[in-house]
Amino acid sequence: MNTELLLLTGSLLIVLLYRLYRIGSRDSTLPPGPPTVPLLGNIHVFPSQSIHLKLSEWARKYGDFYSLKMGPETFIILSSAKAVKELLDMRGPSTADRPAAYIPEQVHEGYSLAFGRYSERWKLMRKTVHAILTPASVEETYPIQFAESVQLLYDLLHDPKSHFQHVRRLLVSIIFSVLYGKRVPRYESYEATSMFDLLHLEEQLFLPGAQLPVDTFPFLKYLPEGPLAPWKKKCRDLKGLHQRVYFGSLEQCKDRIDRGESVGCLMEQILERYQKEFGLTWQEVSYIGGTLLPGGIDTSTSLLQVLIMILSCHSEVQRKAQEEIDRVIGHDRIPQRDDIKNLPYIQAIIKELGRFNPPTPFGIPHVTIRDEEYRGYIVPKRSVVFQNQWGILHDPETFENPDQFWPHRYLLTKYGTKPGVDDSSFRDSIIFGAGRRICPGIHTANLTLTINVMNLLWAFTHSKAKDPLTGFEIPIDPGRMGNVST
Ligand code: HEM
Repeated sequence: MNTELLLLTGSLLIVLLYRLYRIGSRDSTLPPGPPTVPLLGNIHVFPSQSIHLKLSEWARKYGDFYSLKMGPETFIILSSAKAVKELLDMRGPSTADRPAAYIPEQVHEGYSLAFGRYSERWKLMRKTVHAILTPASVEETYPIQFAESVQLLYDLLHDPKSHFQHVRRLLVSIIFSVLYGKRVPRYESYEATSMFDLLHLEEQLFLPGAQLPVDTFPFLKYLPEGPLAPWKKKCRDLKGLHQRVYFGSLEQCKDRIDRGESVGCLMEQILERYQKEFGLTWQEVSYIGGTLLPGGIDTSTSLLQVLIMILSCHSEVQRKAQEEIDRVIGHDRIPQRDDIKNLPYIQAIIKELGRFNPPTPFGIPHVTIRDEEYRGYIVPKRSVVFQNQWGILHDPETFENPDQFWPHRYLLTKYGTKPGVDDSSFRDSIIFGAGRRICPGIHTANLTLTINVMNLLWAFTHSKAKDPLTGFEIPIDPGRMGNVST
């Protein structure tokens, strides 16, 4: 009896040890990837910074469809337009989930559109966003966006050194005005500073590697608040900011409606029409605004900030763009929205800006809802799928001198790819993600970029600052700055 018990315990122990040993190892049904070690898989080699560069280096070695093991979890990295199209666009319904991320969940409680799981609530919130951000309704925001851009020009003229802040104010004010009918006239305005605090806390909490990996090792959740688990206090602080900014701003819209003083902004439209029509709760409406605000601010901000730095380094690009503006628009007026169709070189600059510096270089991860067979491999249910936008848009096989800012490439071929490269899987919106989760703010962002790229080139010739002591130009490296999630 004792011997039998011993044998049974021994066998169970062997099975358990084997299972533990297998954690982190790659099944033969998965696409290839870097060698793994027991328990960790590839966690020990996953970088905490410049993640897109490492993902792209691995893509050169393991191909445009490879896997990483993060402990028991599987990451799938897509590094070509074809793989993104076939796995995320064409299999949208089964790749539309998001990771069950513990820390964001503590803050949003399942109400975030961007981080939210693929659920009935997400579908309802997404439907509302589509209803308010149609191309026609975005077009109606042109006067607001134009006026904000004129303030940007004014701010830059009077205080060029603070260009980073001026661009940030611009985006906060555009999104606040469009959503809540409320301008943000100064960088120091209450809405702006609250929003910057909020975005800063989100970065500290949500970026990959920013906190201990509580999703991979759930026991870490039980660490006491303090130096070992600083996220617990930060989550509380962030929730407080959400209450003030998102719920507070929505409250102001409601008060305006109640007083009969609606201004027609998007959140008022939701309160007046879609809340009832779609049966949305107050919490859901608040978080619709609370996802559109951060979604719309940092991404376009980073592109315009990088643009100013790039132009300062590329006098020949500015010269060509300004020649085009002078020829098409003349010297008597500022560019208008419709001018863009007659300005192919400016269009090329906008596309090259997104290619050169995608604001979310490895996208926002999707999660598979069921097993998917692809290229003879199995992508298991609940794999985390990354769209390596930077790797796609900087692939030397696809783009001539990919690390060089060269808008002219978009005058040679539709997607800027090398002549002769198969571009049938490409689309202009690669930097906006894919499938069912594709960015719903595309039209708003494109309008912002169009107006401001035209105006920044029309109004100024940008150049590097000079060191007051030596008189030499201070070097800038735009390739190393600006994306939201490096
Ligand atoms: C140049 C500017 C922008 C870029 C590059 C950008 C990029 C992205 C990307 C890559 C995603 C993830 C898509 C995916 O999961 O496949 C996303 C999602 C999202 N974006 Fe944008 N975005 C921009 C501007 C905006 C603007 C202006 C808004 C709002 C007005 C916005 C609102 C959102 C929202 C709400 C989501 C979450 C969608 C969901 O998970 O269903 N974005 N964006």
